Amino acid sequence: MQTTTSYLGLRLPHPFIAGASPFGHRLDSVKRLEDAGWAAVVLHSLFEEQITAASNGVIRHMDPSDPLFAEELAYFPHADDYPLGPDAYAEHITQLKRAVAIPIIGSLNGTAPESWLKFSRIIEQAGADALELNLYQVVTNAAMSGAAIEDRLAGIVKEVKRIVTIPVAVKLTPFFTAFANFARQLEAAGADALVLFNRFYQPDIDVKTITPTANLSLSDSSELRLRLHWLAILHGRVRPSLAISGGVATPDDGIKAILAGADAVQIVSALLRHGPRHLDAMREGLERWMAWYHLERLEEARGRVSLDRIADAESYERAQYIRTLQSWLR
Ligand SMILES: Cc1cc2nc3c(=O)[nH]c(=O)nc-3n(C[C@H](O)[C@H](O)[C@H](O)COP(=O)(O)O)c2cc1C
Repeated sequence: MQTTTSYLGLRLPHPFIAGASPFGHRLDSVKRLEDAGWAAVVLHSLFEEQITAASNGVIRHMDPSDPLFAEELAYFPHADDYPLGPDAYAEHITQLKRAVAIPIIGSLNGTAPESWLKFSRIIEQAGADALELNLYQVVTNAAMSGAAIEDRLAGIVKEVKRIVTIPVAVKLTPFFTAFANFARQLEAAGADALVLFNRFYQPDIDVKTITPTANLSLSDSSELRLRLHWLAILHGRVRPSLAISGGVATPDDGIKAILAGADAVQIVSALLRHGPRHLDAMREGLERWMAWYHLERLEEARGRVSLDRIADAESYERAQYIRTLQSWLR
């Protein structure tokens, strides 16, 4: 039985990857991931704000010595609050590449097509096997159109692809009006993979203090369906490989991701909850399921429950919607 998969041009023994998380901070924890058998590791992100502050002394053109920006700048963490500064991040990759054999995927996180992107070259030179570009942004500017946002984000991908030769994955939020079209734009910009999706950290409101409260809770399988839906829509419709990120907690979740069309399955919350050995359960569950269905290769399962072969996917989606509502009555 073969569970091998190809993601970002990397041949992996199975689809399970440790997604960007604090597991990437330290050499010994990445070694633990390798020892447990994870197929690859995405490092935690280096942020645009970190790079621009370290290289130009400004964040998003905001000069810390200018009182005009004092309030906005106070929102951002101090340089010491990040686990690694930009130079230390590159050095970390070099050390990891000497210490482990599994692929190391660097992560850059930002939203402006500016000089900080040159750091992607430094990540490549440090030895990263690939780069994940996280385009996390909440656009609050009512004057900016969807087309302008998409254009800017695709421009970032184009720029990074001009700078590096290693494969580039793009991690995205699901909130685009025409996500499939945007995926095509990223394909045209040269993206080698799409990672579906960023979790969207919406703050809650504390009614006692009447303030917003932000806290990071780990995910569970309830977050899976949005990802499965879009994997199933994009499978076979775009060239970049597809990874899922978000809500993969159990072996069945991993199998569902493959059936919907994932080439790679990123896991973070379950890894943080259960530790690196959680991989054993994920792999055993997948292999048992493949054996049950007499599947010899993962490819035989990939995309089996996608919209790939449905000619009019939009009508299919409408029909499913109506049937789902009607299912309540039965
Ligand atoms: C503690 C923690 C730190 C994270 N750090 C990063 C990061 O640096 N860069 C990034 O792109 N995603 C980061 N993420 C998001 C994860 O990579 C992943 O996309 C998200 O947790 C959804 O996957 P999950 O449901 O398996 O947790 C982080 C998540 C957690 C819980």
